[in-house]
Amino acid sequence: MPEPEQKTTPQRDSIGRTLLVAFLVSLLCSSLVASAAVLLKPRQEANEARHIRRNIVDVAGLLESGEDIERLFEGIEARVIDLQTGRYVDDVDELRFDPVKAAGDPALSLAIPDELDVAGIGRRAKWGLVYLVRKKGQLATIVLPVHGRGLWSMIYGLLALEPDANTIVGITFYEHGETPGLGDQIAKRPWRDLWSGKQLFDQSNNLKIEVVKGRVPPDSPLAPYHVDGISGATLTGRGVTTTLQYWLGEHAYGPYLQNIRSQREGS
Ligand SMILES: Cc1cc2nc3c(=O)[nH]c(=O)nc-3n(C[C@H](O)[C@H](O)[C@H](O)COP(=O)(O)O)c2cc1C
Repeated sequence: MPEPEQKTTPQRDSIGRTLLVAFLVSLLCSSLVASAAVLLKPRQEANEARHIRRNIVDVAGLLESGEDIERLFEGIEARVIDLQTGRYVDDVDELRFDPVKAAGDPALSLAIPDELDVAGIGRRAKWGLVYLVRKKGQLATIVLPVHGRGLWSMIYGLLALEPDANTIVGITFYEHGETPGLGDQIAKRPWRDLWSGKQLFDQSNNLKIEVVKGRVPPDSPLAPYHVDGISGATLTGRGVTTTLQYWLGEHAYGPYLQNIRSQREGS
């Protein structure tokens, strides 16, 4: 008996077809992800800027429940400074200037020699951005952005000072990747509260501020400059110290802080 004729159907599940479908699906998905990233970028940047403004208001001690952050921030003056001379500059737009972004642009930044780079940042912008709070026309608080290497991540913070450019009003870290429950305590109270009233420099103008391992003995002569370490996060605390040592030193905000102190003594 003759064999029944086999019907030939197009091979729907050939390897070529499978690969083509997989390719088209992944192309569609990656296009969707890329479009979403592009479309959401301005919103993401706006949220990040709002987050920083909120932290500036907070570290300056102006945060009050129920108050509109944007309205509070409007009362704070942003100024660009030349870090080398410590003087204000007027030809850089403070509303557009981002010192962290500028540090990535060779035309706007300089490389930090290894022996000075205690904060592990590699480069810094030529200018710094500071925030000034005035009360009845008088300088009341100075807020300085700082950043440096923690244990696992770059830590980005804000240090608020009294008009003597020496006494700490507050500190906060608004961005970091330190471990929850350990290093992340740098961004939380009660550790942040330990900083209020601490001094940066001693009588001879030596930078003394430091996060120590363990507790600071209250009767220690260094107690005005030393802050308790966080248990289990000594290394993140060390990152905070080195970050401050770089930014408050003579190669960063040092000349600016010295100018403020000299002006006060002269007035
Ligand atoms: C999973 C894990 C996460 C850690 N995260 C941190 C951290 O964020 N910051 C830090 O300083 N140490 C962190 N440590 C601890 C350090 O590696 C180190 O052991 C610790 O600093 C030593 O304890 P001490 O800080 O009390 O001296 C972590 C350890 C582990 C195992």
